[in-house]
Amino acid sequence: MRTVQLTFVCLLLLLLRLAEAADDALRTQANALFGVLAPVTEAEINDPVVALGRVLFWDTDLSSSGEVACASCHLVANMGADSRRVSRDARGRPTRRHSQTVFNAQAATAGLRWLGDRASGTAQALGSITGSMGFSNREDIFPLLMTSPYPQLFRQAFPAAEEPVTAENYSLALETNQRSLRTPAAFDQWLDGVETALGEDAKIGLQHFIRFGCAACHNGPLLGGNSLQRFGVLEDFRVLTGSNPEDVGLMTLSGNPEDRDVFRVQPLRIVANTARSFHDGSVSRLGTQWVLWRLCSLVETCRSRNWQNCSVS
Ligand code: HEC
Ligand code: HEC
Repeated sequence: MRTVQLTFVCLLLLLLRLAEAADDALRTQANALFGVLAPVTEAEINDPVVALGRVLFWDTDLSSSGEVACASCHLVANMGADSRRVSRDARGRPTRRHSQTVFNAQAATAGLRWLGDRASGTAQALGSITGSMGFSNREDIFPLLMTSPYPQLFRQAFPAAEEPVTAENYSLALETNQRSLRTPAAFDQWLDGVETALGEDAKIGLQHFIRFGCAACHNGPLLGGNSLQRFGVLEDFRVLTGSNPEDVGLMTLSGNPEDRDVFRVQPLRIVANTARSFHDGSVSRLGTQWVLWRLCSLVETCRSRNWQNCSVS
């Protein structure tokens, strides 16, 4: 009897050890593919440049119509994205593409926006003055920045500058504020070694994400933002997303047919909260079924692994 009990305990311990080893292997693999998103620091929160950027981000007075702020298209209710297909700029015109989230965006290494065509947050903010904010010239924003509370906020943010109210400092403050909009999650704790941070379902989901080949494009700490890739490797994405009107991605900028349907790989941090999805906001809800059945048919690895038979959480 004793021997049976002992064997049983040993077996149990062995199984636990095997499960632990499997978890460790998954964590090692995930750390190599993704990596931890740094938490927001106290210093960032208290930085007067961040404080200035925050005020600029929310101020509708800083547009030609007096009605549009950055936050009008990057809404707090949609975690910095827009639940509408497209947004309306200060000239009343619809935006060409969907407004993506500003959370975590500044860490994207392949450039900003759906085509990665803005090199930095400062370039993006500078472009917005005559873009979304609707001014004819960049200088038109200065009279507004010369009124209260801005002269004082710029002085506090850039105390060494002789003339702190400049277009460069306007955009630097917006970029610095957005850099602080990061959303570390349980996933990061788990990557850091806190085993209980992720439940079993989440770990199975992660295994699928890696096995199906999603991580080939959606990698790095943002799970994306690192490269431009063809959207729809096997099939035309329009069949799946119902996209309309026509948008051929990077080819619109380069004219090169090889760039047809190439977009920046969208980061997937907080993706569950930033619908609508994709460059044209064509998909309103990303249920499990949508993600697996449809997105998998866009990538080769899913096909070849007969993933339909997997039980997916
Ligand atoms: C009228 C709506 C609108 C307004 C106002 C607006 N944006 Fe955007 N924003 C967009 C759209 C649309 C995109 C995607 C554009 C594209 O890729 O063609 C975008 C993209 C971005 C991105 C890139 C995010 C990423 O993941 O790469 C950042 C950063 C950004 N906006 C910051 C700002 C800031 C800062 C302001 C205020 C100065 C601002 N936006 C004002 C609509 C808007
Ligand atoms: C070949 C590279 C590639 C692979 C592999 C890939 N994706 Fe993507 N993914 C992209 C690109 C590019 C976009 C941006 C598409 C656009 O602009 O509309 C994207 C966008 C997304 C979005 C929309 C995000 C948003 O906020 O709009 C989701 C969700 C997504 N992918 C999930 C997945 C999943 C799940 C897998 C694995 C089944 C996967 N992707 C595999 C390249 C890829």
